[in-house]
Amino acid sequence: MENKITYLDRNEYNYGPAPEIGEVLKNFDPNKLCFYTRIYDEGKKSILSDYISTLYGVPEKQVILGYGGEDILKQVVHCFLAGGPKTKTLLIPKFSWWYYKSIAEEVNGRTIFYPLYEEGDTFKYDIEGMQKITEQEKPEMILIASPNNPTGNSLSESELDRILSFIDKDTVVVIDEAYASFANKDTSYIKPLIEKYPNLLIVRTLSKFYGLPGLRLGFAFMGSNLTPFLNYSTKYLGYNRISEEIGIAVFKASDYYQRIADLMAEDRVTYRKELGVLDGFKVYRSDANFILVKYPIAMKSELQKALKEKGLIVKFMNEENINTHMRITLGTQKQNRLVIDTIKEVAKNFKP
Ligand SMILES: Cc1ncc(COP(=O)(O)O)c(C=O)c1O
Repeated sequence: MENKITYLDRNEYNYGPAPEIGEVLKNFDPNKLCFYTRIYDEGKKSILSDYISTLYGVPEKQVILGYGGEDILKQVVHCFLAGGPKTKTLLIPKFSWWYYKSIAEEVNGRTIFYPLYEEGDTFKYDIEGMQKITEQEKPEMILIASPNNPTGNSLSESELDRILSFIDKDTVVVIDEAYASFANKDTSYIKPLIEKYPNLLIVRTLSKFYGLPGLRLGFAFMGSNLTPFLNYSTKYLGYNRISEEIGIAVFKASDYYQRIADLMAEDRVTYRKELGVLDGFKVYRSDANFILVKYPIAMKSELQKALKEKGLIVKFMNEENINTHMRITLGTQKQNRLVIDTIKEVAKNFKP
């Protein structure tokens, strides 16, 4: 396997699935594919939404499934931003996933960035700045990502509450929590939060912590004021009889995934210790399965060359004000060691 490529550019999963997933596939009865899921008869979407409902204590009607977080985000943005005589506005964080802007543009929505600023070894949401822009622009929708991609920072519960409390109840708030399970094992805040803020949608996925981006399965919790969204599109879509069984198995295998998340937490420290001390480098604190590294721009082509030679693909950022940075997905400990050593070697031999 000399020339094997290691993909560390899209926050995928290099540890492999929990063994329980193989068991589900092995034991799956193909006859099930000849019928729609019967749980419709009980007025529920899927055995998976029912399972998630019990797990998170949120009524099944308020649990949404989709083809990844990507699908749910697209659906919700299209639902609330499309149509009407006036252009509708979505606020998104500066330095965030490019996708947010593009799904708003698909329905001619306008996107406005709200500020994030660098402080020490982390990025922070500028909450006052957010409030000012919200009051000025009166957006139809605000999107918050916690942890945010690519900056890796997340909001505390009290910061989130502060933000939600100044947002008008008619504005839809979407929190993209694709990476949240890396930051916080506790999910008990979700139920009271959507009860307190019925204009809220919290989007999660099986692609990151649960390492199954190829499955395309996301889920979300919806406040009770967002029923137009439930009627819009996602009701009985976004899953099938195989993926719903895999989804349940994945939640049951949480211990496996937590053990791996703990290894990733160790590696985040190693990255900071070993690369953070190199001249001109900065490693940001991250609450996710990737880390953001600032490097001396003059070293870019050397770094690209050296990583490529080792078969390592990381993401070199090109966005304005965040273009001397690379976002590196945490792979296995062995892969991470190779990335760190490769970068250290370039830094050691670099002659400006
Ligand atoms: C910030 C963020 N949100 C959501 C997603 C959605 O992932 P998926 O559609 O695989 O659930 C991603 C994937 O990279 C992401 O980076």
